[in-house]
Amino acid sequence: MEIELNTIIDGVQDKMPHLSTRAELEAYKATILGPNGAMTAVMKSMGQVPKDEKPAAGKLINKAKSSVVTAFNEVMQRIEAGEMATRLGPSIDPSLPSPDLDRGTLHPISQVREEMVQLFSKIGFSVAEATEIETEHYCFDALNIPADHPARDMQDSYYLPDQLTVANVEKHADEKYLLRTHTSTVQIRTMLESKPPIRIIAPGRCFRRDTPDATHSANFHQIEGLYVDEHVSLLDLKATLDYFVKTIFGPKAKTRLRPSFFPFTEPSFEMDFYSPDLGKLSNKWLEIMGCGMVDPEVFKSVDIDPDRFTGYAFGMGVERIAMILQGVDDIRYYYQNDVRFLEQFA
Ligand code: PHE
Repeated sequence: MEIELNTIIDGVQDKMPHLSTRAELEAYKATILGPNGAMTAVMKSMGQVPKDEKPAAGKLINKAKSSVVTAFNEVMQRIEAGEMATRLGPSIDPSLPSPDLDRGTLHPISQVREEMVQLFSKIGFSVAEATEIETEHYCFDALNIPADHPARDMQDSYYLPDQLTVANVEKHADEKYLLRTHTSTVQIRTMLESKPPIRIIAPGRCFRRDTPDATHSANFHQIEGLYVDEHVSLLDLKATLDYFVKTIFGPKAKTRLRPSFFPFTEPSFEMDFYSPDLGKLSNKWLEIMGCGMVDPEVFKSVDIDPDRFTGYAFGMGVERIAMILQGVDDIRYYYQNDVRFLEQFA
């Protein structure tokens, strides 16, 4: 009997790989387990087995039957998986990118902002942020810009209605909210929150009531820098700006500071740079930022002792840097969302 059973099992094992449809499986199964099947025949022959051999024979048969049933189940699973695959169509690789979807990239302004943040973070500057809606105090007064200063003129600032309240920006009754005109507001907010040493850059969006043209936009971006500690000198400012310009415009670039005026720095400068490798803009001094040593009046407004601490600050337009780097001659391209323009910087 054992030999018969082993023959059946071997036969099933041999047949398994050749069964590829349900019908084939069912037909073959009938020849083993059906009423006239080989296994059924062996089971029927149990009647002739002497009584004392019956338990052993029964065990053998059960074992053989369960191995055959397991084999048939395996075949069934394989057939079902095959049917499913046929229904699903050809196999796909879900890790491949979609063939018809264009990949987006960072906006060219964001790319330049990221590059600038990276290079300043390498020399110890961390990123600080503040709100785009500001109060007159943070945008002007605390920065030593008096009420009659031209920058406060209705002509170049977006003031918000008096009845508006902005939950996260505290305002005194006698002042107005406005959209910040520069990121210098972040200098004040940072110096109020933390004590020196302070070394931050503040990238962010600013707004001015400008008539748009090739170099002006009512909404634009700046990066502010502020370093406050004991013994910070003009030399530190110049060295930092040299590093910035050489890193972003190449090692042959040169910088120069030209005397200027900002109410919140003293002395104040415009920084120009010059590079022999800038295409059409080569070998010309180009003005790219305002900077200077933090005015003691500003320190007083944030309760930092001007006799103990000194600092420098700078602020520049991200669009201006981007236009020079990317050879773009009209700032408006950056805001038109024309893919033909944007994809050149992908
Ligand atoms: N906030 C000035 C501007 O928008 C730039 C500036 C920043 C100048 C910091 C000096 C120091 O023009």
